[in-house]
Amino acid sequence: MQNIRVNTSKPYDVVIQRGALNDAGKYISEVTSSKRCVIITDDIVGRLYADTLGRSLTEYGIEYSTFVFPNGEASKNIHTLSDMYDHLCSFGLTRTDFVIALGGGVTGDMAGFAAGTFLRGIQYIQIPTTLLAQIDSSVGGKTAIDLTGGKNLVGVFKQPALVICDSDTLDTLTPEIFSDGMAEAVKYGMIRDNSLFELIASHDLDSIKEVIDEVVYRCIDIKRVVVENDEFDNGERMILNFGHTIGHAIEAHHNYTNYTHGQGVAAGMCYISRRFASEDVSNKLESCLNSYKLPITDDADISELLPYCSKDKKCQSENINFIVCEEIGSAQIRKCTMEEFCRLMEGKQ
Ligand SMILES: NC(=O)c1ccc[n+]([C@@H]2O[C@H](COP(=O)([O-])OP(=O)(O)OC[C@H]3O[C@@H](n4cnc5c(N)ncnc54)[C@H](O)[C@@H]3O)[C@@H](O)[C@H]2O)c1
Ligand SMILES: [Zn+2]
Repeated sequence: MQNIRVNTSKPYDVVIQRGALNDAGKYISEVTSSKRCVIITDDIVGRLYADTLGRSLTEYGIEYSTFVFPNGEASKNIHTLSDMYDHLCSFGLTRTDFVIALGGGVTGDMAGFAAGTFLRGIQYIQIPTTLLAQIDSSVGGKTAIDLTGGKNLVGVFKQPALVICDSDTLDTLTPEIFSDGMAEAVKYGMIRDNSLFELIASHDLDSIKEVIDEVVYRCIDIKRVVVENDEFDNGERMILNFGHTIGHAIEAHHNYTNYTHGQGVAAGMCYISRRFASEDVSNKLESCLNSYKLPITDDADISELLPYCSKDKKCQSENINFIVCEEIGSAQIRKCTMEEFCRLMEGKQ
């Protein structure tokens, strides 16, 4: 597979290569001369892959220490971050050293945030090990932690120095977590690339693994273009939120328990498409999501979900942006008041 060069304010490469984790030390040595780093990982990924990464770092003379936290979104908070800073400090990382995020989006978001703020910013390298992290969170430079008041409320833009995607690591994902990432892959096809959508739609949860490198490559390349055009999320980047307005509402309505992010996004894309796209587009989307065991609807009535779409649940005059794909492969940003959005979604004139 080819590398992808992301030309943001600080350009970097995304290496997409089966088995790349074994050569991580080599790739990393090409982007930094530092020989000291901290690997940040969760307990599950650490057990599976930290030794392989460590061996490769040692081979290239890079000294490292490993910070391990309990897996899951519940760890993405200020307490884990504080322990992480302490670890970076006690290992004596300097401004020219770096951290490596080895894991899913939770690890990447937190390690990126730590790297963006520790000593006012040190380099970090992403080694994403979930499909979602490979095609979405590891590229684009958004980092964050959650507060009790909401998800991703504190963060910085901090582009990585390098991203290494090894699709072999996806083999150990549970089918649910793998399929969660497929929802975002379907989203990329919907917003930008009909032929990517067709590629995904012509496979299922098992057979997609045969072409997963191509899927990862094409999704990242779409994200690259969008991020290059709008690095700091002031316009076009919004199209990446297709399915997310209702998706987040579904996740929140179920207290972030019954629905994963990808499942929420899948159902969210369907709700919007049933309202704003043709029956043909909507049917194709639903049948594609079905093959990846992703939901196309939610038990909750749309009227129960709509209050969660607004930042302020009572403010009906608030403006809302939402994304519509009238055709597969092209996205439009629509803007209206919350009141109008509710009317449209509930099918009232
Ligand atoms: N920064 C961004 O642009 C961006 C974009 C999308 C999502 N996100 C964030 O990403 C997070 C979700 O990411 P995620 O779904 O990767 O979550 P995650 O990091 O929690 O990973 C999901 C689970 O999979 C396990 N896991 C990871 N890799 C594995 C592997 N190779 N084999 C076996 N198990 C493995 C993890 O231990 C965890 O239990 C959310 O916090 C979300 O806010 C950020
Ligand atoms: Zn998403």
